[in-house]
Amino acid sequence: MKIGVYPGSFDPVTEGHMDIIKRSAKMFDKVIVAVAKNYSKKPLFTAEERTELIQRSLQDMPNVEVDSFEGLLMDYIHSKNAQVIIKGLRAISDFEYEFQMALMNRKLDPKVETIFMMTSYKYSFLSSSMIKEVASLGGCIAGLVPENIIPDIYRKLKTIR
Ligand code: PNS
Repeated sequence: MKIGVYPGSFDPVTEGHMDIIKRSAKMFDKVIVAVAKNYSKKPLFTAEERTELIQRSLQDMPNVEVDSFEGLLMDYIHSKNAQVIIKGLRAISDFEYEFQMALMNRKLDPKVETIFMMTSYKYSFLSSSMIKEVASLGGCIAGLVPENIIPDIYRKLKTIR
């Protein structure tokens, strides 16, 4: 069974992420969206909340599962018997950091491949940080994140003011 893991911080999930999830689900028997519990930026949502927001955004994708992980991504990949790391690329600016991570992951286990999917041009300017900034300043984020999580984002931002 071909299992791909799509790791990220997803704080929160955007339509750009959803685009990668939908397209990768057609390429693998199973896709695991893996929410990183520990990452350098201070998250707005807890790992549990980020996981739940993704779960709620998935519709009719029986081969996609959402999970969270802590520690080394490669250890998590092994624990799930996955063979491929899926990453989205928006622009050249993403490339250097992603390239570095892909090479480090290859050093950790050369049998695990990283594949990059170009994001749809509609979402190439999107990032979770920008979503949070626009929403926190009262801007409209419709069409940029799954519709049913929009109220959660505004609600959460209010709690940190
Ligand atoms: O959405 P992001 O912030 O680009 O996701 C980055 C993430 C979580 C995929 C990356 O930081 C990661 O893999 N973290 C787990 C720790 C790890 O394995 N670090 C070494 C990777 S080379």
